[in-house]
Amino acid sequence: MKKLNIAIVGLGNIGSYLFKYLNDNKKILTEKNNCIPIITHVSAKNKKRKRNISIKKSQWLNNYLDATKNKNVDLIIELIGGAEGPAKKLVFNALKNKKHVVTANKALIARYGDQLARIAEKNKVNLEFEAAVCGGVPIIRSLKEGLIANKISKIYGIFNGTSNYILSTMDKKNKSFDEVLNQAKKLGYAESNPSADLNGEDVAAKLKILSSLCFNSFLNHNIYVEGIRNIDKSDIDYSNKLGYKIKLLGYAELINNKICQRVHPTLIKNSSYVASIDKVLNAVIVNGSPVGESIIQGEGAGPSATTSALVSDISSILRGNIKFPFSISDKERKKLNFENISNRLFSAYLRFEVLDKPGILSSITNIFTKNNVSIKRLVQDPNKEKKTSSIIVISHNSKDKSLRSIIKEVSRKNYIKKKPKLIRIDEN
Ligand SMILES: NC(=O)c1ccc[n+]([C@@H]2O[C@H](COP(=O)([O-])OP(=O)(O)OC[C@H]3O[C@@H](n4cnc5c(N)ncnc54)[C@H](OP(=O)(O)O)[C@@H]3O)[C@@H](O)[C@H]2O)c1
Repeated sequence: MKKLNIAIVGLGNIGSYLFKYLNDNKKILTEKNNCIPIITHVSAKNKKRKRNISIKKSQWLNNYLDATKNKNVDLIIELIGGAEGPAKKLVFNALKNKKHVVTANKALIARYGDQLARIAEKNKVNLEFEAAVCGGVPIIRSLKEGLIANKISKIYGIFNGTSNYILSTMDKKNKSFDEVLNQAKKLGYAESNPSADLNGEDVAAKLKILSSLCFNSFLNHNIYVEGIRNIDKSDIDYSNKLGYKIKLLGYAELINNKICQRVHPTLIKNSSYVASIDKVLNAVIVNGSPVGESIIQGEGAGPSATTSALVSDISSILRGNIKFPFSISDKERKKLNFENISNRLFSAYLRFEVLDKPGILSSITNIFTKNNVSIKRLVQDPNKEKKTSSIIVISHNSKDKSLRSIIKEVSRKNYIKKKPKLIRIDEN
């Protein structure tokens, strides 16, 4: 029977789990794929670190880059992380030396995916990255295979488990942002430095990869990104009263053959499917023709879910299924123009914390009129003790730039106590 020799580089959270999984499930994987997966080599930064896996001395590489030159290695699994440094060096060298590559590294693929895919295609090897997007949710394989028949017009959803955990726990447990963030760190749902999760960067990297796959285009780095750092408990409570949940959503759409990518907190109707996705779950919704709407949901991160995705990629290689990394040949991928968010129409939630004095409400509504934004609902919630008032406005559909200009203008007023909020609404 055929054999596939594998080197795992990086034995942290994900690498050690995968190492154990492949050893424990070698027989079933061989039966399913008609090829034996053999871990011939491993590498990590510190050989002496204690790990809960039993590695033979002979498996250790002297240097992680040796994997790319070793004749006994067919597939390199990169689990180091980071868009630059050793991960980048390893993956570029591996593909140049005609080794298949599987990676869970979204940062690397979002930045260098086009160049890497070109080398993989030229050298007729696989470059697989299912685990880089939404952990155990098999969205990449679904786009490349299950949904291959479709012309996709939109992909959106919840792509970051940490942010979703924070927002849904603030909602359900009546806790502040910082309290929930600390709890998430203790439970291992948030990294010690969670900035890429909280500022939307993590979702942006995943969305760029997904939109390339959906629209047969090169990676497009034009993307509007806003994270959840500024969402507080009051926003969640007012949204609830108005019939919405707040979720960090990523959207990629094809509009008049232009690509529009955006990541931002979004008010979504309480009754919608997306509003019901809580904790660390991810959910991806694809609109395509002829399929219509298709939804996949699941664990977005963690060693077990990520290993599920990695093994799907490894199995594809065990079966000898060499595909274009981005679903279509490099020669056929398109460079799409970008549709700016500024002229797009959104209904929005705007919140102003102001001094409780006469004349302020009319000053704010005048600014709305000046910017051609009409008001659908307005709630005023005075706090007698603090002599302040919260003004919450739901606008009618308006240009994004007009909504932002209201925020800018009101921010300058001396009656404003806190930076005003703007959260876009998805009425679907
Ligand atoms: N954690 C998740 O839930 C998750 C989910 C999806 C995708 N991912 C992605 O999976 C990848 C790995 O994540 P992780 O959580 O497993 O990270 P991690 O726990 O920090 O592990 C990183 C590993 O890389 C090794 N390493 C660092 N520099 C190296 C070098 N120069 N040569 C060889 N090995 C080196 C480290 O060695 P030492 O052990 O000796 O320090 C460690 O074993 C990242 O791309 C991440 O974005 C993670």
